This record gives sequence, C-alpha cells and structure tokens, in this order.
Amino acid sequence: MPEETHADVLVIGGGVIGLAVAWRAARRGLGNIVVVDPSPGGGAAGVAAGMLAPVTELQYGEEPLLRLGMASNQRYGDFAAELTEASGGLDTGYRRCGTIAVALDSDDREELRELHAFHQRLGLDSAWLTGREARRLEPMLAPGVRGGLHVADDHQVDPRRLLTALVAACELAGVVLHRAEAVGLLVEDGRAVGARLGTGETRRADQVVLAAGPHSHRLPGLPEGVLPAVRPVKGQILRLRIPEAYRPFLSRNVRAVVRGQHLYLVPRENGELVIGATTEEQGYDTTVTAGGVYELLRDAHELVPGITELLLLETSAGLRPGSPDNAPLLGPTALPGLVAATGHYRNGVLLTPVTADLLAEYLATGELPELAQPFTPTRFSPDRSTTKASA
Ligand code: GLY
Repeated sequence: MPEETHADVLVIGGGVIGLAVAWRAARRGLGNIVVVDPSPGGGAAGVAAGMLAPVTELQYGEEPLLRLGMASNQRYGDFAAELTEASGGLDTGYRRCGTIAVALDSDDREELRELHAFHQRLGLDSAWLTGREARRLEPMLAPGVRGGLHVADDHQVDPRRLLTALVAACELAGVVLHRAEAVGLLVEDGRAVGARLGTGETRRADQVVLAAGPHSHRLPGLPEGVLPAVRPVKGQILRLRIPEAYRPFLSRNVRAVVRGQHLYLVPRENGELVIGATTEEQGYDTTVTAGGVYELLRDAHELVPGITELLLLETSAGLRPGSPDNAPLLGPTALPGLVAATGHYRNGVLLTPVTADLLAEYLATGELPELAQPFTPTRFSPDRSTTKASA
C-alpha cells in the first residue's frame, strides 16, 4: 500500500485484541483495514496461559465484567471454529476442560467458600468439592488439599496458536499488517485521522483503533484526558513438558490462591503444562527473576508435588494492561475518530471474542452495543470539553 493511502480502519497494535478486532471488522464487511505493529502476533497473549475462567477468577464488585467474560466464554467455541476455518485450518487449542479451584489451608478454604457462596447468589454453575472429591477429579493434587470448587464451564485456549491463527486469518481476509511502529497519533481539527510511523510514513484512516496494551496512553500526540493510564502489570510464567509416562498429569485447569498469590496450572492436550503467574507492578520490565520462578515452582509444588518430574522448557514474562479500575476500555473515546480496545488486564485472552465483535459492530454501525457500554473509556473523562492536544 503506498504512503498516504486512506484506510477505513487503522488499528494501532497487533496483539490478540488488535488482530481480532481487525479480523472481525473485515468479516463485518469493512474494507481496507490496516494493523500497524512491528511484530504482529506479539504482546502479552504470547506469554499468557490461556485460561478462560470468568467464574473462577471472579472478584467481588466485578459483576459487569463477569457479564462480559461470560458472553465471551460462551462465544469462544464458535469464534475458535470460525477462526480455524478463516485461517486455512489452524487450530487454536480451544479445549472445553473445566477448572477446579482448590484450597491448601483453612484460610484459602474460607476464601473459596465465600467465592462459592457468591457464585450461588449469582446463579453460576459452581460445585463445592471436599478435598477427597477434588483429588478424585485430579489425583496428582497434594494430599493436603482441603477442598475447592469445580466450575465445569471455565475452559482454555492456547494463546500462541490463537495469535498465529489470527495473523493468518487477517492476511487471508485482506487486512494489511504493516510491520512498523506507530510513533504518533495524527490529530487534525479535533479528530484522530491516522498515525505517524517510525519509518517516516503516515497512515490515514476514517477510524483509528488504539489497541496497544500498556503502551496505549503513551502514544505521542494523544490528547490529554482522552485515555487513562494503562499500567503494565508484570506476570512471570513457566512452561513445562509432561513426559508421556506421566500423562494425563492433570485433566483440567487447576487454580489456587497460595499465600495470597494467584496460582494456576493449565495442562494442554499436547503435553505442555503452563504455570502462572506472578503479579508485579514495577513498570515496563519483562525480565524473568530467580525469585519469580522460585515462587511459582514452590507454590505449584505444594499444590501438585509431582511437578518435579516434569521438564522445564521456558520461563517468560509479559505485561498485563491494567486500567484504573482493571476493566477494559472499549469503544469511542472523547476524541472523535479514536476508538479504544485496551486495558483488559488479566482477561485479554478471555475477552478477545467479545471485544472483537463489539468493536466490529461499533466500527461498522457507529453504535456501541449495550454490553460494551459500562466499559467506555469516557467513564474516566466525563468532561469531554476539557480534552486538549498534548505535545
Ligand atoms: N488471567 C491470568 C493472569 O493474568 O495471570
């Protein structure tokens, strides 16, 4: 595409959210879509475990987010099947395996009992398990497991396969993946009209979607007050291989809170076991530390002692994009022409299908579906008249 070609939609950020929005927008009939990213298919999802757990990860006061997460979870199967077809047959590793959340001590058990009561008040499908029942489901759990919850509808996907399929589906749908960095937002007459690229080119578009994760609010030229800070929240994660002789090691996702830290083990059908994740707020740092790896292995070993027999393949760290209220930023901003799709925090992979569908609907019709309305970025900038361009 030559310089200055005008796109219908320019997506800044080719992570899981940006790619999915671009692909769904193309399917929705929008033509001429460009995604700008130095390496499309990267971002936090390439590190994530891919647990699709709106019920087991539910926090108090997050009912609107639960509704969004449940809607995304329900459409995941169809989304994955359509993506496989649209990508020329690439599998996403979507697996309807269920999840158990277990407790190791009486405090953890009390916390899970409260979560179970909360699930029941909300009418969610969540069954209480004794320690023995939990071990019957997952015999590799430690004898000390004190009880837990079984949530049959919290599943998993393989985020790396998902990203690969999204890149292929975008390309097959005619989305242009422009491998360059967006170094500035173009704003003219109070409207976002495109982006300046690190190559010196510009890309102009009718609508600009900002999907740059924890870098979104740092885009030069973004007017003040249009987007709140999207802070980076580091997560370190481990990938292990389960030798054939030990399979099946675990049959479903296993979660626990160990000394206040969320821990989860996600077993894949191909023999990979992902163990995550730390939660660290210390800026744009993606180094892997001995302490982080130690804590994950120590806690996972308390939960599933047999992990010492597995092969450690990879350690990595990613940055979750956290908005001020940890809920996503979806839809039009106070700057005409600029649409947000960021701030998904711990839920980017889970919320990919619903985000892509809601944003594609908005881009095609100018109407933001009701499901997305609690998450508009303007909830942080109530006085739209005060927005002004920054240097
Ligand atoms: N959703 C899992 C995590 O953020 O670690």
